[in-house]
Amino acid sequence: MTVKEIINKYGNKRENLLQILHDIQNQSPQNYINQEDINLLSKEMKIPVSDIKGTASFYTMYSFIPRGKYIIRVCESPPCHLLGAQTIFKVIETKLGIKEGETTKDGLFTLEGTSCLGICGVAPAMMINDEAYGNLDEKKINEILEQIQEKESK
Ligand code: FES
Repeated sequence: MTVKEIINKYGNKRENLLQILHDIQNQSPQNYINQEDINLLSKEMKIPVSDIKGTASFYTMYSFIPRGKYIIRVCESPPCHLLGAQTIFKVIETKLGIKEGETTKDGLFTLEGTSCLGICGVAPAMMINDEAYGNLDEKKINEILEQIQEKESK
């Protein structure tokens, strides 16, 4: 879908901006919203570029820089923190060779921290794109990441 088609789908009212940004980012292979699209959005919706960026920057799910195909979000809120979120980060960092905020060289994974994902009952938890994973330990994380790597290598 083009940016114009996405705008038409929701209507060019300001209240639809977040949903439109979400869809633009979702269809980007690099999981981000590029400057060209923001300019077009600004023109079509009559919202200043700075306003669009300011609004989106309130939400951690939007990015203006290219990211991996899979965004790993590790929960850092207290329940997950207490049950080992830092260890979860370390396991992923070791496995993928990246630190928080970085993207793997093959463009497959980006590692990010996030606040509560709403699944504290299975802490420590993370999400990879739209999929949630709980009760994480080293073995489980490695299996999840290896499954994705295998799928992508085919
Ligand atoms: S605190 Fe981690 S999912 Fe709620």
